[in-house]
Amino acid sequence: MVVMTGRGADFLVVANRLPVDLERLDDGTERWRPSPGGLVSALEPFLRGRNGAWVGWSGRADKDLESFDDGGLLMHPVRLSAAEVRDYYEGFSNATLWPLYHDVIVPPVFERSWWESYVKVNQRFADTAASLAAKGATVWVQDYQLQLVPAMLRAQRPDLRIGFFLHIPFPPVELFMQLPWRSEVVRGLLGADVIGFQLPQGAQNFLWLTRRLLGLEPTRAAVRARSRPGSVPFDGRQVQVGAFPISIDAASFDELARSPETSERAQLLRSEMGDPHRLLLGVDRLDYTKGIDVRLRALRELLASGRVDPESVAMVQLATPSRERVDQYQAMRRSIEEQVGRLNGEFGRVGRPIVHYLHQSMDRDELVAMYRAADVMVVTPLRDGMNLVCKEFIATRRGLDGVLVLSEFAGAASELSGSLLVNPYDLDGVAQALERALTMDPAEERTRMRTLHRQVMTHDVGRWARSFLDFLDPDEEPKPGDEAVFQ
Ligand code: ADP
Ligand code: G6P
Repeated sequence: MVVMTGRGADFLVVANRLPVDLERLDDGTERWRPSPGGLVSALEPFLRGRNGAWVGWSGRADKDLESFDDGGLLMHPVRLSAAEVRDYYEGFSNATLWPLYHDVIVPPVFERSWWESYVKVNQRFADTAASLAAKGATVWVQDYQLQLVPAMLRAQRPDLRIGFFLHIPFPPVELFMQLPWRSEVVRGLLGADVIGFQLPQGAQNFLWLTRRLLGLEPTRAAVRARSRPGSVPFDGRQVQVGAFPISIDAASFDELARSPETSERAQLLRSEMGDPHRLLLGVDRLDYTKGIDVRLRALRELLASGRVDPESVAMVQLATPSRERVDQYQAMRRSIEEQVGRLNGEFGRVGRPIVHYLHQSMDRDELVAMYRAADVMVVTPLRDGMNLVCKEFIATRRGLDGVLVLSEFAGAASELSGSLLVNPYDLDGVAQALERALTMDPAEERTRMRTLHRQVMTHDVGRWARSFLDFLDPDEEPKPGDEAVFQ
């Protein structure tokens, strides 16, 4: 797949964020660093290998940036004003759609001015993609921030193949129906040729909505056959709808985990924590969907009731800063930091806290050393589209050691049957699972991890992307002689 030619890009990804984020340092200088979140972690390695072109926002307001080439990946920044960051990004994307699509864990806010900004910014992304795409190109639009882009793009460029993938859950019909602009969103998505969801349930919810809201008639097979893609006729086309569970670049995690430097670093980390008998690990964006509070409360129960000896365990909780100006995120941060302080105050001692909490982003080497150092990975979201962290942990366990405690409300639960599945709303159940993980015998650990490891290593992000793109454009092949030209 070759991308930029003199006549435009043959393959474009359009996502709210570029894979790199422009950071302003204290001394006033700027530097690019990796963007947060699973969308970028998953897609970037796949595209880098293929000279991809990417349309997205730099992460900074009011910044006019030229297109640039970053290690063979062509970046096309889209400008957002400070008001658009507030209304389109923090507002409609992350205070309306994010909570609505994640089961209304916090109440979504419906604001007409935010919606208007969402429409305007989606139009800008669509216009940018339309101006860059070569005739007949494939354009792959990503995630909830850009649901109107497929229809806006098709209106200008009916020659394109347009795919859309939603990285977060698609909610049940009753919840989606709360959205005042529900028909507009569904029509926006239907501009695509293929609409992909993480799980069959999301695809099914969407197909039901097309019937309920727009009176369309999805093929019977689509509604019945849960895992096979179905389709719905719209505007003289047949729109394909299916489930494509995303994954990680498993081989690169495996390779890094096996390096001698990683093993040394992992050992050092454990000894710096006082060589606990068992080390628990949580790795998340600091988001209320992730259930960080759930695992802290469960650990507290175990310590308070004496079922776990504070001398024998430690926990590391890494929390990447995220959406820090949105009210709900600020409130959650305060509450988690209070819980950590309380746990350490009650059960730690000088030089030996129970919970090592880091509100920062780690580089990949350090993150993998953390995965290697841990015995028990704790992933307890109240709702999560997939959750890549648990797959990353598993990919670092070639030796088949380690236990995964996983929420049944993470998309990954449907693939990872060797984990200890928990209902994050059931505190006793989570505490029991943690206790079981901490005391599991090595034979059971190996048996469980063997299934998990096989699943993750054989279903990597390359396979995911190919399965989607094959569906979108079965004929796409590299075009010999096409030159990667930067425009
Ligand atoms: P989400 O996309 O909602 O953030 P995922 O679990 O799917 O959740 O993806 C999170 C990604 O961010 C993973 O690739 C993970 O390695 C990365 N990540 C999470 N926390 C950190 C951290 N503190 N430092 C570095 N990377 C992190
Ligand atoms: C999730 C979303 C992505 C988003 C990421 C980070 O993975 O699915 O679309 O980019 O979180 O969130 P942010 O708001 O920082 O882009």
